[in-house]
Amino acid sequence: MPNYAIVLAAGKGTRMKTEMPKCAYPILKKPMIEYIVENLETSTLDESVLVVGHKREVFEDLLEGRVTFAHQEDQLGTGHATLMAQDALKEKEGTTIILLGDMPLINDKIINKILNAHRSSNDDMTVVTTHVDNPKGYGRIVRNQFGRIASIVEQLDCTKEQKQIKEINTGIYAVDNTLLFEMLPKIEKNKRKGEYYLTDIVALMQPDYHIGTFVMRDSYRVMGVNDLYAISVAEKYMRDEINKEHMLNGVSIINPETVTIGHNVRIEPGVTIHPNTTITGDSHIKPYAVIGPNTEIHSSIIHKEVQVKHSLVYDSIIHPRSTIGPFAHLRNGAEIGPDNRIGNFVEVKKSTTGKNTKAAHLAYIGDATTGENVNFGCGSVTVNYDGVQKHKTIIGNDVFIGCNTNLVAPITIGDEVFIAAGSTVTKDVPKGAMAIARNHQINKADYTKHLIRPKQDDK
Ligand code: UD1
Ligand code: MG
Repeated sequence: MPNYAIVLAAGKGTRMKTEMPKCAYPILKKPMIEYIVENLETSTLDESVLVVGHKREVFEDLLEGRVTFAHQEDQLGTGHATLMAQDALKEKEGTTIILLGDMPLINDKIINKILNAHRSSNDDMTVVTTHVDNPKGYGRIVRNQFGRIASIVEQLDCTKEQKQIKEINTGIYAVDNTLLFEMLPKIEKNKRKGEYYLTDIVALMQPDYHIGTFVMRDSYRVMGVNDLYAISVAEKYMRDEINKEHMLNGVSIINPETVTIGHNVRIEPGVTIHPNTTITGDSHIKPYAVIGPNTEIHSSIIHKEVQVKHSLVYDSIIHPRSTIGPFAHLRNGAEIGPDNRIGNFVEVKKSTTGKNTKAAHLAYIGDATTGENVNFGCGSVTVNYDGVQKHKTIIGNDVFIGCNTNLVAPITIGDEVFIAAGSTVTKDVPKGAMAIARNHQINKADYTKHLIRPKQDDK
């Protein structure tokens, strides 16, 4: 029998107080909903339906082709949202797992476990519950005298006694699919909130159907994220878990509570990560690289034995043994060759450098292709922008660029060129030449003795 998933992500997420819809809000720089969808993709599911409504285009852009979309025009509650999946699933036989789009810590193992438990129980529906110390905000699980689930009561509707119940509804349910769509239209509007609560389905199904519970031990795994504080809590769990896995795999992380590593990052054994470092996106860090402190790396490849400290590296590649920083900024397709030295206050954008090239201090290298053994003196700039368009700089091998040089692009500098300090070079320089492009120096002999200087005492 096939398995389906319905994920509810149409809500406004009012408690977030953010422009971005809640379920698309980033955790470790990745939209919350993507964690859930990735886990659906690796679970034993035949089809996943994502119910979207508020700012639906954000989700459609993110997940086009990966889920079936259902649309909830008005946000009338979780029961109504689930019903919106009927066009996609109503007629199909099988089991459906319902998940909320605000539970980023769920994983494929748990999803499969719930489906298996539901199957082997022979219950018509399984409600996934857990015990928490602070149940505030969650629906409470009310059990009858036989210990079986009788209903779910939302926080607002709880009596004083029910508020004491610490077993809560995680918002995950496994249910016979055709039965689900038979029951959903029967849910009535909650008077207090004016919404159709999915949770009411439990009481509705009594006494005709069998409902069981699956009690999760690790309650944090199913936490619902409703505000920005909860985002930070979810992020902390995720961070600790990811860091631990890397450390057990041979990555040394100093002060791990200050190190944030994204979900899809690959780090090989032998790497050292110093404090206050963030590595996110599709980054890959190869053995014996030393990263940090105070470094941000996003969607970049860092090869063996590279060192990056106090620097920003976005969408870039750094080849073996190069050293980056302190205070360097590589971005937008920078590719640093092997054995480079990219030092203090150097920015490299959309440029490649050859082996053993050095820009040790205060340089801007943009839209450039640089050969091997090039030395950028302090203050050298590839002048790539004329106010309208960007232009390219091409530099050969074994080139020495003196301090405070402007290379006004488009320009080509041949192999073995030497450019004198302070030059503003606007024309190509052929192989082996020395270019000086600055005013001649004039020394006016005996000039200063005619200057009237204040006496030392008058100062
Ligand atoms: C819900 C449950 C609560 C449970 C908690 C677990 C209900 C009524 N309450 O409360 O029992 O303990 O989750 O975290 O189900 N959504 C829609 N359309 C809507 C309303 C919501 O798609 O009209 C989506 C939201 O985008 C969200 C999810 O449903 O992803 C849950 O909604 P939320 O408002 O967060 O419900 P909770 O108050 O957390
Ligand atoms: Mg919630």
